Amino acid sequence: MNHEKIIVPLDVPTLSEAIALLDLLPQVSFWKVGLELFVNCGQEILTILHNRQKRIFLDLKFHDIPNTLAGACCSVQKYQVDLLTIHATAGRKALQAAVAAVENANQRPKLLAVTLLTSINSRELAFDLKIPLELPEYALQMALLAKESGLDGAICSPQEAAQLRQVCGEDFLLVCPGVRPSWADAGDQRRVMTPEKAIAAGADYLVIGRPITAADNPKLAWERICQDLSNL
Ligand code: C5P
Repeated sequence: MNHEKIIVPLDVPTLSEAIALLDLLPQVSFWKVGLELFVNCGQEILTILHNRQKRIFLDLKFHDIPNTLAGACCSVQKYQVDLLTIHATAGRKALQAAVAAVENANQRPKLLAVTLLTSINSRELAFDLKIPLELPEYALQMALLAKESGLDGAICSPQEAAQLRQVCGEDFLLVCPGVRPSWADAGDQRRVMTPEKAIAAGADYLVIGRPITAADNPKLAWERICQDLSNL
């Protein structure tokens, strides 16, 4: 079912705004909860999503020492989420500790690596972070570190999906933000791709926000994207 490949972010600060979005788009089955909403509402929004039989991507982008990261991943288990993000730069030992913390759970979250924040450009990578690799090579190396450490997949730009799919293999989950239908405004996303092309490049899931949530008619925008994907 192609519509299950689309994850819509609940990029709103309050519980009432989040509920309004859920009510507006009952067809959406997979929602992303990020730091802003989670810091505001905590478990409450996750309970609401569970009660509506939705799948959950908890995008908290954890980054800490092995012991603390393992503890945090252990604590997340009670929320029964499907996907959880961790920065690859936490390092091999911390990533392995995160995997070990969840591996015996009944319904464990799939762990996804953040390779490099899309807000960082090549100049910042070189001059501020002092990393002497080209940006695509660095993102690839971080994805490989995550794979070797036992994580289930990575967040990547759709532009990187084909190469990551080739290098990391078929079983490695690729989740892509930065997706824009040809008929939607790109907004502040720089290196965008259409949903059809992103799936063809190897993405397993697409995170699509404003083309749906900020559309004049969100329900219609959702249906158009599902239609675009059904032709694949
Ligand atoms: O509205 P838009 O489609 O740009 O939303 C994309 C979502 O994906 C937002 O929640 C954004 O924070 C998130 N995201 C991203 N780039 C990343 C990781 C997450 O755009 N590298």
